[in-house]
Amino acid sequence: MRRQTKPSHKAVIGVFDSGIGGKSVANAIQTALPDDQVIFASDTTHVPYGTKTPEEILGYVVPILNQLVAQGCEVIVIACNTVSTTLITQLRAKIPVPLIGMEPMVKPAAEQTRSKTIAVFATPTTLASKRYSWLKHTYANGIEVLEPDCSDWSHMIETNQVDRNKIYEVTRQVCSSGADVIVLGCTHYHWIEEMIQEAAAGRATILQPERPVIAQLCRVLEQQT
Ligand code: DGL
Repeated sequence: MRRQTKPSHKAVIGVFDSGIGGKSVANAIQTALPDDQVIFASDTTHVPYGTKTPEEILGYVVPILNQLVAQGCEVIVIACNTVSTTLITQLRAKIPVPLIGMEPMVKPAAEQTRSKTIAVFATPTTLASKRYSWLKHTYANGIEVLEPDCSDWSHMIETNQVDRNKIYEVTRQVCSSGADVIVLGCTHYHWIEEMIQEAAAGRATILQPERPVIAQLCRVLEQQT
């Protein structure tokens, strides 16, 4: 994916996540937009966010985003479903550059499922958010949405201690329960996408939002030039 017109200047793009989930997104953006500069920031002190309250997280995130703005970022991708689903509106009011969020792809999953059952792998804070409830209510009416316990996954991935058996077991369980689409609703899980794909063994399609987010980023950059 490329920006449609040749960029007249090198854009500076911020990418933020609690931890290494956002790094996979930053890498994908840098590959898609090689002429632009991508600055990645994370919160190694407080990761994982997915078991914390939005009130706690807000205080951590604002100084880091302001730091990205001070470094010249003209747009910031919030490569964190937990932050995007709970705080994006408040953050937009506080941060003076466009923020692009990432949230579970409930709508495309609901459109694609044939079995009328989808699974969303996400953090507890994302699953408890009003935004996520709204997505389900609006787009997945009449669809069964499985939400297995993934509460320790981002910690496992962050510390490079992935329990393959656990990932396989959860994935096989949702497939056996009829899910034919699995939504990766946490960017940390992008690092284990292949493992989830292997465990699903063709029984489910895996969705994650890097491509649509990069497309949205390109639109924002085009508008700014
Ligand atoms: N990678 C983040 C997300 O997309 C947060 C994971 C965490 O810190 O628990 O939700």
